Amino acid sequence: MKTNRMYGEYAHLWPLISDPEEYTEEAGYWRDALREFLGPGRHHVLELGVGGGHNLSHLTAEFEATAVDMSAEMLAHSEKLNGSVEHHLGDMRTVRLGRRFDAVLIHDAIGYMTTETDLLAAFVTAREHLKPGGVLVTAPDYYVETFDGPYVSNNTRKAGSVELTYVEYDTDPDPHDSTIDTVFVYFLTEDGKFRVELDRHVTGLFTIDTWQRLLGEAGFVTQRRPYPVTEDPRSDFLWVGVCQNVG
Ligand SMILES: C[S@@+](CC[C@H](N)C(=O)[O-])C[C@H]1O[C@@H](n2cnc3c(N)ncnc32)[C@H](O)[C@@H]1O
Repeated sequence: MKTNRMYGEYAHLWPLISDPEEYTEEAGYWRDALREFLGPGRHHVLELGVGGGHNLSHLTAEFEATAVDMSAEMLAHSEKLNGSVEHHLGDMRTVRLGRRFDAVLIHDAIGYMTTETDLLAAFVTAREHLKPGGVLVTAPDYYVETFDGPYVSNNTRKAGSVELTYVEYDTDPDPHDSTIDTVFVYFLTEDGKFRVELDRHVTGLFTIDTWQRLLGEAGFVTQRRPYPVTEDPRSDFLWVGVCQNVG
């Protein structure tokens, strides 16, 4: 089955899959965390894995922002939505912009870190882009302790001549590895033609202790804040890591 088509050949469907308005509540928790740790002021934040920039769009009125994603198509969506933000193509595990920020945000894109090596590499990238005392804010969808799938959800949306119904199926085929599978089924009508497509996403699943340990290894002192944005066991809390030493 083909993977991550949502961010490439089907990236044009992103505005039908996700609505920026749906991020209003969760973005509030990210804003509160930034304000609590950074205080007042128009601080400069870097988002790694910005995607369509839907979460970020709720923060740009208050913060300067720079954004990175490895999909040019997704960056184009964010550029359209977030005109004031500087965008860069890059991989959160390796990108080095040569600048430091007050905060680094990694929203649900952190899920694409499927091994401890990758997760640590993303945290080290965050540290390498932070001023001393700067903060990393991040949150995965699930932990080993909270994933109790399979979960199924669906939605139907229309825009002009395009109608998309998508079904999302989250499952953990091998409880002994560090990943889960999400399969999207797209029931798609475009230009009067109907077809069905599959899209597999493999994302990371780690214990809460593993998160704590890797954030510590990357040089962060961590706090976990309540993050009650879904009714299912997703997104239990928001991690805030304070950068101790500049690497
Ligand atoms: C679900 S989307 C993010 C949506 C975003 N939170 C929003 O509010 O619009 C996940 C994004 O992670 C990006 N991504 C996955 N792995 C990445 C990596 N290693 N480095 C940078 N971006 C990555 C994908 O290209 C995709 O755009």
